[in-house]
Amino acid sequence: MGEHLVCNQGVGGSTPLRSTLAQGIAKKKRYEEYDFLGVPAGMGVYGIHKYPAMLHFKLVSALIDEFSEEGDVVYDPFCGSGTTLNVAIRKGRHAIGTDINPVALLIARVRSYYGLDPRGALRDLIRVWDSLEPDVPEVKNLTYWFKKDTIRDLGKLRRFLLSLPASREREMLLVAFSQTVRDVSLTRKGEFKRYRMPQRSVENFNPDVLKVFVNTVKDYTLRLRTFGRPRASMRLYLHDVRYSLPFSEKVDLVITSPPYGDSRTTVAYGDFFSFSLEWMRGLIDVPEVNIDRRSLGGVVANETDNLQALPSFPTLRGTLFSIAKKDKKRAMEVASFYHDLFKSVFNIGSQVSEGGTVCFVVGNRTVKGTIVPMDEIVKEMFEYLGFKHMETRVRRITNKRMPSKNSPSNVRGKVGNTMHEEYIVIFRKP
Ligand SMILES: C[S@@+](CC[C@H](N)C(=O)[O-])C[C@H]1O[C@@H](n2cnc3c(N)ncnc32)[C@H](O)[C@@H]1O
Repeated sequence: MGEHLVCNQGVGGSTPLRSTLAQGIAKKKRYEEYDFLGVPAGMGVYGIHKYPAMLHFKLVSALIDEFSEEGDVVYDPFCGSGTTLNVAIRKGRHAIGTDINPVALLIARVRSYYGLDPRGALRDLIRVWDSLEPDVPEVKNLTYWFKKDTIRDLGKLRRFLLSLPASREREMLLVAFSQTVRDVSLTRKGEFKRYRMPQRSVENFNPDVLKVFVNTVKDYTLRLRTFGRPRASMRLYLHDVRYSLPFSEKVDLVITSPPYGDSRTTVAYGDFFSFSLEWMRGLIDVPEVNIDRRSLGGVVANETDNLQALPSFPTLRGTLFSIAKKDKKRAMEVASFYHDLFKSVFNIGSQVSEGGTVCFVVGNRTVKGTIVPMDEIVKEMFEYLGFKHMETRVRRITNKRMPSKNSPSNVRGKVGNTMHEEYIVIFRKP
């Protein structure tokens, strides 16, 4: 274990804020063994469908070994593509996951299947391909994002998927379809937000939709075959954790990575999944395409809204004060995000059993030149609810699927340094 202490970069502000930070620093440790250099987060089943800002499965594995036993219940409230859940069930822990993104839940579920064989379905697809009548759903700005032939072929794939009876194989094909939709769209590939390719690239981009799909299915089949067999149950709920949780049993361990800020200025999940959600409507249950509204901080409070329900957390107060000096509107956006985060923390905390452990994996971002020390804010929130802060471990996030730059000033094209460190903030419920 790396024993040297890591200091939080100053956020400025009042004396109480400084003393709170000083207490926090005492329990902050750099954990080099959590860096997992050279081990991609998307190995094996964790490479089934791209997902922004995935947890590293090796980190989850170490935390599960340290803080739980076989038969325990592990919960990830912001489960995304289900890294926590899939590590848990392969280690004999029961897993529960919630997320607002229906495609995320489908990916999480498919990653848990062992030894699927979709070869029969692929043979059928190729046999009927020429006779399939395209089924094209309503997609916003369809012809801006997809070329004519691509639209036709995606429509054919959709028609085929609609004809399949419910099965695990079908679910895997749906995940491959979601990835294919993105891969054959005219959006630039290495981005989380949607940006159209430059016109010259558009002219040369003529993907073979059927081939992309078939290769994706084959890749997933291999990934599922080479990973361990699940040894416990997994339950998933399409649920917004700002509202009371949809299950009643207590959980022994929480391992989660919430969004680091609102999706307008951090990871744009809604943008990233909008193509999938639109093309998948009718194939899976998609209550709403605009998932960003449900994401933490998705709806910004205005000054007349009541944010008083948020208890006064000193670090958050100091941070908001510093941002507000430069930009009141941005301060309100950050306040709205933390207001939503606290509602979630409250619900999550209530579900943890006595003696249970919570691991919140967070990153600190910069807004208008002020560092927002999310690890400290989360610490104050859990302590307010009676949890004991055990330790904060610090790892480098070189492997994480995050943009290396983002736009803290919220101006498109203007970049600033983004997170290079990830904080694993660990609590125990007395
Ligand atoms: C950083 S990602 C989690 C990634 C996940 N750990 C993984 O390995 O794939 C954060 C997740 O929080 C979800 N989310 C955002 N707001 C939510 C809310 N109000 N309730 C539940 N989930 C939410 C997003 O859809 C996203 O999947």
